[in-house]
Amino acid sequence: MQIINSVKDLDKFLKQSNEINFVPTMGNLHAGHLSLVSEANKYNGITLVSIFVNPLQFAPNEDLDIYPRTEKKDLMELEKVNCDAVFFPEPDFAEGTKKLYANSELSKKLCGISRPHFFHGVISILNHFFQLIQPKNVFFGFKDYQQYLIVKDFLEKSKMDINIHGVPIIREPDGLAMSSRNNLLTPDQRLVAAKLSIILKDTAQQIKTRNLKYLKVEGKKKLEELNFEVDYFSFFNSNTLEEIDEIETNTLLALAVNLGGVRLIDNFLIK
Ligand code: PAF
Repeated sequence: MQIINSVKDLDKFLKQSNEINFVPTMGNLHAGHLSLVSEANKYNGITLVSIFVNPLQFAPNEDLDIYPRTEKKDLMELEKVNCDAVFFPEPDFAEGTKKLYANSELSKKLCGISRPHFFHGVISILNHFFQLIQPKNVFFGFKDYQQYLIVKDFLEKSKMDINIHGVPIIREPDGLAMSSRNNLLTPDQRLVAAKLSIILKDTAQQIKTRNLKYLKVEGKKKLEELNFEVDYFSFFNSNTLEEIDEIETNTLLALAVNLGGVRLIDNFLIK
């Protein structure tokens, strides 16, 4: 596995490479990220993973400084899943990045309400990566479903010749969606966090017998009883992210909560 530490070395590497299948990450890799790498490995060419904690997508009051950084372990994990190359940009990689704006309709909803800077920061850094790497395929997890939709929209609008692939959520045995932020939970919080997917699943199972307004209120109540601070818990059209009151084909049931200062998100796609 090749390790690339600068844009200069990346350029050299790209000159000798075939098509690139690109997996952007912020490190602290878990089975969810590794499933993106395995998916990328199915395509012809080279699988390239980037590890960069992007300051542009954190507000000053957010967890940039404590965001877990575990480079050595990440490299070992990537080696095990046959990743071809890893790009660790220099710390100043984001400086001078062209500031872009994510689709205003999609980025103003769900997580965009409480984190208004977030998707613009994501799109700006991804554009920087995409321009440098010119990948053929890129891979994003459905755990960040809104991010996946916004990147897809960006690629369509900017007419970049890049295929985007969405990859299903990977869960812990107790159902908690894998996330780097899970490492910030105390053991007690970690046990409570497992309830998120149980509540999502229970709610999704009742959509045929109960109306969505009722299910939203009940789901939120259950979360609050468990001491989650609820940012949102609701049903959305899975293409436009409009909140809905009637079930549609491909409905997204999604939540974002705060548990002891740790932000957690999860979702279910109801087909
Ligand atoms: O999903 C993430 O880890 C980040 O938002 C991404 C796509 C690597 C951009 O920094």
